[in-house]
Amino acid sequence: MTRKYNFCAGPAALPETVLQQAQQEIIDWQGHGLSVMEMSHRSPEFVGIAQQAEADLRDLLNIGDDYAVLFLQGGASTQFSAVPLNLSVDDAVVDYVNTGEWSKKAIKEARRYCEVNVVASGEASNFSAIPAFADWQLSTNASYLHYTPNETIGGVEFGWIPEVGAPLVADMSSTLLSRPLDVTRFGVIYAGAQKNIGPAGLTLVIARRDLLGRARGITPAMLDYQLQANADSMYNTPPTYAWYLAGLVFGWLQRQGGLGAMEQINRRKAEKLYSAIDASDFYANPVAVPDRSLMNIPFTLADSALDKLFLQESEEAGLLNLKGHRSVGGMRASIYNAVPEQAVDNLIAFMRDFEQRNA
Ligand SMILES: Cc1ncc(COP(=O)(O)O)c(C=O)c1O
Repeated sequence: MTRKYNFCAGPAALPETVLQQAQQEIIDWQGHGLSVMEMSHRSPEFVGIAQQAEADLRDLLNIGDDYAVLFLQGGASTQFSAVPLNLSVDDAVVDYVNTGEWSKKAIKEARRYCEVNVVASGEASNFSAIPAFADWQLSTNASYLHYTPNETIGGVEFGWIPEVGAPLVADMSSTLLSRPLDVTRFGVIYAGAQKNIGPAGLTLVIARRDLLGRARGITPAMLDYQLQANADSMYNTPPTYAWYLAGLVFGWLQRQGGLGAMEQINRRKAEKLYSAIDASDFYANPVAVPDRSLMNIPFTLADSALDKLFLQESEEAGLLNLKGHRSVGGMRASIYNAVPEQAVDNLIAFMRDFEQRNA
């Protein structure tokens, strides 16, 4: 069996050594005679696994005790509702930045509960750039400002953190753990796990403790940050196996040298791929250079009639899941932490060869 290179946007590549460790431990976890999947979430064994994962995440991101770290279910999409339900009262005004498909979904959900003020939108540029901060129309009384630091579909990414008075809320699904982050700038950070964190089924929420305890009366218990924090994310049965695997990923990141080391590799990978695209008339990336994502790189072929052949031949070359999101078409290479530099080198070599044969 040979593993291929997986460029999927999510569920995404996991480090091979993590999968090997999971394989080794799947039948009998560390001599305890059972799999992590079969453990009670209240057992000392699993509580130990859970606490170690949280400690390692706190270490990687330098998260202080003034933040709660929650290991939840429901995906980032459930947080689109949990955020307004926890951080705003009925009829409150909340600020949102619209930078693409995921922002739009967050906005749509927030509108069920709040008056949403869209402070800026990238729509006029077809979401190919982050709207300049100087033009943002901030509310004076917003309960929070929500934005999407990395738009997984459009491939636009903030290289900066907005400086606003209201608590900052960020959907970091496709950028968390790709580089160091100053968590203290944020009120709430959330992320679906299935990109840089672990398998699908787990959602991380990092919330400043002074923002807890404000959930609306109608908030479902499962979505109430304070309640989940009080229960150590075990108000009900948590996604135990995904939590364990995320813990293995955190350990792997520490062994790589932490997020500073990952950032260097990630920048190198992205720069190579963008340079190859920009150097060619055959491939194109529409995103403004300063706003280009390090993690998700969409590109088109000059002749879209060749898309099908490109995808077929890339799969044959061991380069999987390069098809762009159904809403935008074209190609997309997602190059998260677990996608090795060799995968990017092979992709670039394949792209050059394909161009020579088809241009
Ligand atoms: C930025 C962003 N937000 C939200 C989501 C939705 O995540 P989930 O499928 O975990 O609900 C995704 C999924 O790809 C995403 O990339």
